[in-house]
Amino acid sequence: MPMLVSFCEWLENTPVGMFISGSTWAFPTIESIHVFFLVVVVGTIAIVDLRLLGVASRNRSVSQLSNDVLPITWGAFLGALTTGALLFSSKATHYLGNWPFRIKMLLLLLAGLNMLIFHFLTYRDVHKWDDRSITPGAARIAGALSLLFWIAVVGFGRWIGFTVR
Ligand code: HEM
Repeated sequence: MPMLVSFCEWLENTPVGMFISGSTWAFPTIESIHVFFLVVVVGTIAIVDLRLLGVASRNRSVSQLSNDVLPITWGAFLGALTTGALLFSSKATHYLGNWPFRIKMLLLLLAGLNMLIFHFLTYRDVHKWDDRSITPGAARIAGALSLLFWIAVVGFGRWIGFTVR
C-alpha cells in the first residue's frame, strides 16, 4: 500500500496529471471521451451476453456474433483504459482512497475473470452449441454475470463523481 501511495503521488505530479487537474476543460473533455468508449464496451458486450442468454440475435451463431463484435469491444476498451488512466492521473491519491473507485476496479477484475473462465472453459466446445438458441447453463450464467458486472461497473463509475470533488 505505501508503494501505491507514492506511485499515486508521483502520478499526480507528472506534467500530464498536473495539466489535467489544472485545466478547466481537460477533465470534462477526457471524461466525455471515456463515456463514449465505455458505452461502446458495455453495449457490444451486452450484444454477446444477450445472445448467450438466448434473448437476442438467436438467428446468428454465437461464434460468428462474437467474432464480429468483440474486436470493436477490445478497441473501445483500450480507449476506456487510456482515458480512465488519464482521469485517474489528475487526482490519483484521492481515487486510491475512494471506495466506489475501488469497487469499480474490483468489478472490472471480476468481469475479466468471468470472461476468462467463459473463454477457456465453456467456449472451448462452442461448436456443439454454436447455433442453438438455448445455450448451456454455464454459458447462460457467464452471460448473466457479465451483464451484472458491467452494469455495476457503470454504476460505481458514476458514483465516484458523487464522492470525489
Ligand atoms: C470499460 C470499463 C469502464 C467503465 C464501464 C467505466 C465507467 C465509468 C463511468 C460510468 C464513469 C462516470 C462518468 C461520468 O460521471 O460522466 C467513469 C469515470 C471515471 N473512470 Fe471509468 N470506466 C471504465 C474503465 C476505467 C478504468 C480502467 C479506469 C482507471 C484506470 C477508470 C477511471 C475513471 C475515473 C478516474 C473516472 C472519473 C471519476 C470522477 O471523478 O467522476 N475507468 N467511468
